Amino acid sequence: MLKKYLSSSIGKKQIVALTGLAMVLFLLAHLAGNLLIFKGADAYNAYAAALKEFGALLWVARLGLIAMFFIHFVFIFLLVKQNRQARGVQYSEPLHANTRSLSTKLMPVSGTILLAYIITHLMDFTFTHSNIANATVCGDYLGLYGLVVNHFSNPFGSLWYVIAMFAVGFHLTHAVQSVAQTFGWNNSKYTPFIKKTSVVVGIGIAAGFAAVPIYVFFLACGTSSCTLG
Ligand code: HEM
Repeated sequence: MLKKYLSSSIGKKQIVALTGLAMVLFLLAHLAGNLLIFKGADAYNAYAAALKEFGALLWVARLGLIAMFFIHFVFIFLLVKQNRQARGVQYSEPLHANTRSLSTKLMPVSGTILLAYIITHLMDFTFTHSNIANATVCGDYLGLYGLVVNHFSNPFGSLWYVIAMFAVGFHLTHAVQSVAQTFGWNNSKYTPFIKKTSVVVGIGIAAGFAAVPIYVFFLACGTSSCTLG
């Protein structure tokens, strides 16, 4: 039964949708934590420290996130393969000819940018630990907050994050519409609402994240005195 479900196109689409939704939940929580940068070093570092308090549970959540990411990726690959075999054409052939929006066409591009982004992002903040050299701002050691601020004070550091957030916005806008289609919620009554929701979710999350490097970059570089920390 499970084998039949997983080998069907709709089964795969539902798995992609559900794993995507789980990752959106992570993103919302992650965004809420990162917006604490606007409250300053104490609030931001307290949030990071609170996360670490979860200990083993944090690792369970991390492993869950990695599993969601992996399953999402594998099932998209399987769907594309199944689609090609069924139609005997490339993926560039529309999957949903009548609803193929710009964000749908950019899905492989935004997905690839996202993958590259996540790798660089983990290297920036998860695998790099804050120390005196990389997390000192205006003479004060500020832990993870200092590491983030110093990273985004660099124009290339912040620019890459802003570009990647465009990809996040595109990807999520399509994703919400795709989830609605997968679960059959697309009809004349709900479609306008779903389209608006997808734009609000995509742009909202992307703009929220992009605000962090933009704020740090302009505050750190746009003032002659040290105002951060
Ligand atoms: C401006 C935007 C962002 C900032 C400033 C930011 C900041 C951070 C920081 C500081 C950490 C390390 C936390 C710690 O070690 O305690 C982290 C981890 C992480 N971030 Fe982000 N993040 C941003 C956007 C994103 C986005 C858009 C994604 C996904 C597409 C993402 C995915 C992750 C993941 C998967 C981890 C590892 C989580 C863990 O190990 O617990 N982040 N981020």
